[in-house]
Amino acid sequence: MSSNRKKLIAVVGATGQQGSSVVRALQAQGQFKVRALTRNPDKHRGLADEVVEADLDRPETLQAAFAGAHGVFLVTNFWEQGTDELKQATAAVRAAKAAGAKHFVWSTLPDVEAISGGKLHVPHFSGKAKIDRIVREAGFAHYTFVIAPFYYQNLLGVTAAQKQSDGTLGWALPIDPTVRGIHMGDITELGNIVAGAFAHPHEAGNGEYLPLVGDFMSFNEIVDTLNRQGHEFSFKQVPTEVFATSFPGAAEIAATFAWFQAHTYLGSNSSDQIGLANKIAGRQPTKFSTWARVNLPVHASA
Ligand SMILES: NC(=O)c1ccc[n+]([C@@H]2O[C@H](COP(=O)([O-])OP(=O)(O)OC[C@H]3O[C@@H](n4cnc5c(N)ncnc54)[C@H](OP(=O)(O)O)[C@@H]3O)[C@@H](O)[C@H]2O)c1
Repeated sequence: MSSNRKKLIAVVGATGQQGSSVVRALQAQGQFKVRALTRNPDKHRGLADEVVEADLDRPETLQAAFAGAHGVFLVTNFWEQGTDELKQATAAVRAAKAAGAKHFVWSTLPDVEAISGGKLHVPHFSGKAKIDRIVREAGFAHYTFVIAPFYYQNLLGVTAAQKQSDGTLGWALPIDPTVRGIHMGDITELGNIVAGAFAHPHEAGNGEYLPLVGDFMSFNEIVDTLNRQGHEFSFKQVPTEVFATSFPGAAEIAATFAWFQAHTYLGSNSSDQIGLANKIAGRQPTKFSTWARVNLPVHASA
């Protein structure tokens, strides 16, 4: 089909880790025309078939951003200063509906507060879960929930190994390292699921939850996998209360690890959802050991 007769997918967060993966997968699939959305289109020319301005904090930009779109992918960035995920997502859902979008894909996370019976508070998870109902009730012909895992890439950035007081390189975190609770994955592969969902709305566009999971591990298994590849990483469990006050924002990270330990990242047995996600993506996601060999080579941590 020629490019101008293809249906259009508008991708929020197209310059970020999740959205760029969606843009790449849609481009590789070739079935849709892709519109990358960013607050700074001039900085990102050539990112997709079209690059258009969208600022979730300025709803007036969303009408043009979603105009003519058959599908919309939405991710909100909890960590960006001043972000109100509920407000941003509500504006995006409203604008997508007004623009006549048929298929809405929302990148969500489990409802920690509900599943933990109010014991744990992890706003960057629960805040996303609360948006699910808004997507469900908006009246789109098709809608899909994708769940991003604990990015393998976190181990190169926000959760990278650090020099410890005993001189080793490793992690000091508030989690029992023997508990298998972390659903992980290569975030560059999220787009395969999203592109698959847009291409197969009858199988994946009826409110299905599609998590990307390449591996399911304990911290000991993460460390052992890396050390078998030649690293010499250490792991030390630290008390939640100590970790929670160690830097600004640490309380939320501590609660996140408490969640992984008590309920697992996905919060329930999700093997059927993972199986469907892999089928819709058309491939098995990359295992941690395979990813690490390429992306976390030994010389980088020496
Ligand atoms: N790290 C993890 O393990 C993990 C796991 C699951 C979920 N998450 C969630 O992933 C989300 C972040 O996604 P990411 O990793 O793809 O982020 P990222 O790589 O930091 O990129 C953030 C993206 O958000 C866009 N953005 C931010 N504010 C915006 C606004 N007001 N209007 C329009 N676009 C805006 C940015 O676009 P421009 O700057 O180009 O405008 C950029 O493309 C967070 O909410 C986090 O909770 C993370």
